[in-house]
Formats: sequence, structure tokens, C-alpha cells
Amino acid sequence: MFSLQGKTAMITGASGGLGEQFARTLSTAGARVILVSRRINKLESLRDELGNAVAMQMDVSQKQSVKSCFVELEQAGEKIDICINNAGIAALTPIFEEDNQEEFESIIQTNLLGVWYVIKAVANQMKHHHLHGAIINIGSVNEDMFSYKEVTAYAVSKAAVMPRTKSLATEFPKRQSRINTINPGPVQSDLLGSPNKHDADFWKDKIPAVFMAYPSDLDGMLLYLASNQASRYVTGVAFTIDGGLSCRSS
Ligand SMILES: NC(=O)c1ccc[n+]([C@@H]2O[C@H](COP(=O)([O-])OP(=O)(O)OC[C@H]3O[C@@H](n4cnc5c(N)ncnc54)[C@H](OP(=O)(O)O)[C@@H]3O)[C@@H](O)[C@H]2O)c1
Repeated sequence: MFSLQGKTAMITGASGGLGEQFARTLSTAGARVILVSRRINKLESLRDELGNAVAMQMDVSQKQSVKSCFVELEQAGEKIDICINNAGIAALTPIFEEDNQEEFESIIQTNLLGVWYVIKAVANQMKHHHLHGAIINIGSVNEDMFSYKEVTAYAVSKAAVMPRTKSLATEFPKRQSRINTINPGPVQSDLLGSPNKHDADFWKDKIPAVFMAYPSDLDGMLLYLASNQASRYVTGVAFTIDGGLSCRSS
């Protein structure tokens, strides 16, 4: 049911954190993986390790970069059946600090517009090739909960994930692509640039499951949503994976 043999999956932000794990998981399930992000050296090492993989430099925040990659992939005869919109950045953007306009704009440009550029390109390519595709967006519980202060730009960028998912689910041609969202709670990665040990201790008492997740804790949901056999009746929805964090009232 979860075999992805014969499928091709693009993973944005595959050079580390969640994206690297997603690439490993999809590859283990049999998919050819197209690894994209800005740090090409990291992608090339992962490509060499995984085999049946392609490494491509793409800056999702730049329309032209996304466009060129898709042209190149089309010319190479690649067809993307599964797209994981995972690339994202985070930073604090306190309102009472003067010099963070650029950070705010960059978060919106990457997490909101960047994801749009990729979805637009991949959805059109799926339609063109009549693929029964699966698009999976990585949102965040931060779309509407604020365990950290001063995360306005990040929260705004992630709050857009769900309306976009629902709206697009109604636009895709019947019986073709599906689009869904995974909203993770805190997962150990470099996202906030803070030491994981510190984060893990910080979160332990706040999460009913009493631990901070590893990227592999999302594997089951990723495979479920990527597999047309497992989730063919599932589109336009979000699944929260947060150890129960969002059930807490404070
Ligand atoms: N970790 C968490 O607790 C958590 C919780 C909820 C949601 N998320 C979401 O999960 C996703 C992955 O986060 P993570 O924790 O794995 O963070 P991470 O370790 O910092 O990795 C982020 C990835 O995104 C890529 N990226 C950033 N900007 C990019 C751009 N402009 N173009 C292409 N790739 C870009 C980075 O690669 P390059 O630097 O090579 O470009 C990197 O591979 C994000 O969308 C994040 O919001 C994370």
C-alpha cells in the first residue's frame, strides 16, 4: 500500500532537517527523488548516497529559479508525481525592533510566495502529463498557536498554507492530483538555529507526548499522503503531528 515504486518525488529543502528525512523516506519507499534547495553540495552528497536521485539548485523564493528548474526537468523528461513543499525559513520579527523589515519580507517571500511558485509549476506539469499526483505542504502548528513570542511573519506565512490547500483542492482536475498539508509541532532541526538539547528540554514539559519529535516521526503521515493507494480519497485537509501540543490551553 505504501510502495512508491515507479513514482518520482520532488522535495524542496532537501538539504537538511525535515526535507532530508522526507527524501530518505520516499527513496526507501521506492521513489526516484528530486532534491532541491540552495545548497547544492549538500544535495549532491545525499543524491550520491541515495542513488536514483537528482540534485538541483533551486531558490524557491525566486520565480525565475523555480521556472528554470522546471524547464530543465521537463527537458530531461522528468515527471513529478509527488511534491513535498517543505523549504521554509523562520526568524523572530519583533514589532518594536526597527531593522527587521527585510527579515519579515524574506519569510513571506520564501514560505508564502515561494511555495506558490513551486505549486503552480508542479500542478501545471501534473495536469499536462495527466498525472494522478500528490502535493504535500508542510505548514506548522504556529499558524494559530504562539508558543514563542515575536513570530508574526512566520505565523502569517504558515497561516496561508491551509486556505491555499483547500482552495487548490477544488481546482485540480477530477481524479487527478490531491493536495494536503502536514502541520508539525516542534521537531528537532536547525530551523531556529538553537541547540536541539535546549529545545528538547524546553518542549518536554509542554508537550503531552513528553518529547520533542525527530523528523522521522512524520514518516507515517508522509507515506500515507504520498501514496494514492493509501489516501486516494483524501484531499484539501491538514493533519497535525505535534504530540498533543495544540490540545494544551496554555
Ligand atoms: N522544525 C520544526 O520544529 C518545524 C515545525 C513546524 C514546521 N516546520 C516546517 O518544516 C519545514 C522544514 O523545516 P526544518 O525544520 O527542516 O528547517 P531547516 O532544518 O532549517 O531546513 C530548511 C530547509 O529549507 C531549505 N530552504 C530554505 N530557504 C530556501 C529557499 N529559498 N529555496 C530553497 N530551499 C530553501 C534549506 O535549504 P538551503 O539552505 O540549502 O536552501 C533547508 O533544506 C519548514 O517549512 C518549516 O517551517 C518545521
